[in-house]
Amino acid sequence: MQEKYIDENKQGEAYAIAEKPGNTRKLFLESYGCQMNFSDSEIVASILNEQGYNTTLNVEEADLILLNTCSIREKAEQTVRNRLSMFHHLKRKKPSLTVGVLGCMAERLKTKFLEEEHLVDLVVGPDAYRDLPNLLKETEDGQDAINVILSREETYADISPVRLGGNGVTAFVTITRGCDNMCTFCVVPFTRGRERSRDPHSIIEECRELWNSGYKEITLLGQNVDSYLWYGGGPKKDFSKASELQKATAVHFSELLEMVAQAVPDMRIRFATSNPQDMSLEVFRMMAKYPNICRYVHLPVQSGSNNMLKAMNRQHTREEYLSLVKAAREIVPDLAVSQDMIAGFCGETEEDHQDTLSLMREVEYDYGYMFAYSERPGTPAHKKMEDNVPEETKKRRLNDIIEIQSELSLKRMQSYVGRVHEVLIDGESRKNKNQWKGRNSQNAVVVFDKQEGQKLGDFVSVFVHDCTRGTLLGKTV
Ligand code: SAH
Ligand code: F3S
Repeated sequence: MQEKYIDENKQGEAYAIAEKPGNTRKLFLESYGCQMNFSDSEIVASILNEQGYNTTLNVEEADLILLNTCSIREKAEQTVRNRLSMFHHLKRKKPSLTVGVLGCMAERLKTKFLEEEHLVDLVVGPDAYRDLPNLLKETEDGQDAINVILSREETYADISPVRLGGNGVTAFVTITRGCDNMCTFCVVPFTRGRERSRDPHSIIEECRELWNSGYKEITLLGQNVDSYLWYGGGPKKDFSKASELQKATAVHFSELLEMVAQAVPDMRIRFATSNPQDMSLEVFRMMAKYPNICRYVHLPVQSGSNNMLKAMNRQHTREEYLSLVKAAREIVPDLAVSQDMIAGFCGETEEDHQDTLSLMREVEYDYGYMFAYSERPGTPAHKKMEDNVPEETKKRRLNDIIEIQSELSLKRMQSYVGRVHEVLIDGESRKNKNQWKGRNSQNAVVVFDKQEGQKLGDFVSVFVHDCTRGTLLGKTV
């Protein structure tokens, strides 16, 4: 998921603002980790808006501080712990302050947060946000409160998220929650529970509402969007038990994509994340058919070595992955592809590592999110494998991977030079107030001089004349 991994050294973005007249209490809500967390925070803000809370960016004036947390790597958890001890100091000064932990760390550590660390009053897992009003009442009565029950049904389909801190141009729409894949390194199936899909009608309605309120780009979100499946009024699973009629009328991801593309024909549509094993070529056919579906796929692979893929319980081989990318590019020739890669997984040899590098060169990724393996308690890898690649080796391999990706990113960016791109303006350039910043269909950032009459949320044609590794430089045509 592009932009999903917030720099783990940086504090989570605290972003405003949800206001309802008459609300008197203040909520400071900070999100860490993936796009799903940021999207969930919008649901939390919506629920609490109804409970008398407006969001604030000023932590000093908060009555309630909530951290929506990430467990994906150890460093992500450490960042949250540091932040929590800061809030603990605030609480000493202001005893009426309530501090709560939401999201994956809440789910992973459960009562440990209350028993061992005494840093928080409230612990709420990703499927329990509807219970927040009750839990807050408990904390008001001076008790600690916790709900970390995972659900097989909860999709928050009926809750209209308050759009926080966005640019009013791009928004997330959640379509699935949880993950059933059980990649051996990954904590997500344990913290976010079983996979379930959201009712397509509520998805379409949310997309229409976004269009009507001026949004121009949506990203359909899920841990594994390609396994989206809705049938006979129920969320996925036990499809083998579905009736013939239910099977015939089932909505798969490519069909959902088509429904969205037709419902909001001028809205740009993106989706994340795709999983190679579940990805169907139908999705790329939809991309080719509907110009409003962006020509970009985030297709994590994690490793280029079959040994590692097997140890990771990824359900595909290197060869299958490469032929998927090849077939996708035949259908969508200008397709951009990005990756997630893990360096130094259990038992990774130098040869495995070289396989990763050669796969990267073969695919020529546009972009990548690259990580050193971080063992997570409770995962199959933690239980059954040895985290036996030394830290320095992990780091060196990670650097090799990053270096190749920089090279490949530059090459891909150069291939966009000398052409006109349709760019959606999503903000001002950070470096120069006289320039706009936006993205092309391939998700590459484009920067260009402002012209009169142009505004945020406009689609403009930009001729790209130069580039860096991360940015295309252009002029309006
Ligand atoms: N399907 C999900 C994946 C979530 S995890 C999605 O929506 O993108 C995101 C990425 O973090 C994974 O693709 C993987 O590359 C990385 N990751 C997951 N667990 C990890 C671990 N234990 N150590 C290092 N990186 C990890
Ligand atoms: Fe994690 Fe694999 Fe699911 S990376 S989120 S278990 S697809």
